[in-house]
Amino acid sequence: MNSWRSKLVNETSIKPWKNLSYKLSDSVIQHLIDMHHSGKFDYEDITFTGNYQGIDVVDVDVGPDFGYFDHTSVPSLTQDLEQIPSLVAIDKVTVVTVEPNKYIVPHIDAYKDNFRRSVILFPIMPIQKYYAPLQFNPGAQKVSYSSSILINTDQEHFCKNNDYWRMNLQLWLTQPYEEIYNLVK
Ligand SMILES: [Fe+2]
Repeated sequence: MNSWRSKLVNETSIKPWKNLSYKLSDSVIQHLIDMHHSGKFDYEDITFTGNYQGIDVVDVDVGPDFGYFDHTSVPSLTQDLEQIPSLVAIDKVTVVTVEPNKYIVPHIDAYKDNFRRSVILFPIMPIQKYYAPLQFNPGAQKVSYSSSILINTDQEHFCKNNDYWRMNLQLWLTQPYEEIYNLVK
């Protein structure tokens, strides 16, 4: 039992997600969808392969892409992010898309050079009733979110996408989940 999962899966008793009240404005959501359709994101395939603190991380073929972009260029997005308390240090902002019917295999977000401990997610598309839930192990608990959510990326999670392109905005946080949990609402 010396796999990376057994070492890194968080044993905290706090459930690994917290639904939040923060919202993106409709114009920001539409702008991000337009950027996606016009090829303005620099998508890059990712794999969960690497090494974190001496532990091999071997999940591969997760399917989605990260879109790195200058979020300050999106009108109103900077103002929207001012809803987040300033004690929450945002390391980076990305857009992540998942192709239709892709399976993001169970993983924790520990892979070389890009380690993050927790993340705040905003759904972008499709509209909520079609937005595939995130799932947490143990138990494959299904988690839906309509405005925003904080999740513990130290705990194993996955997503089975449906027939729609799935896209969210992600605020990468290097602070542990437990530290952020009581700062956000
Ligand atoms: Fe993840």
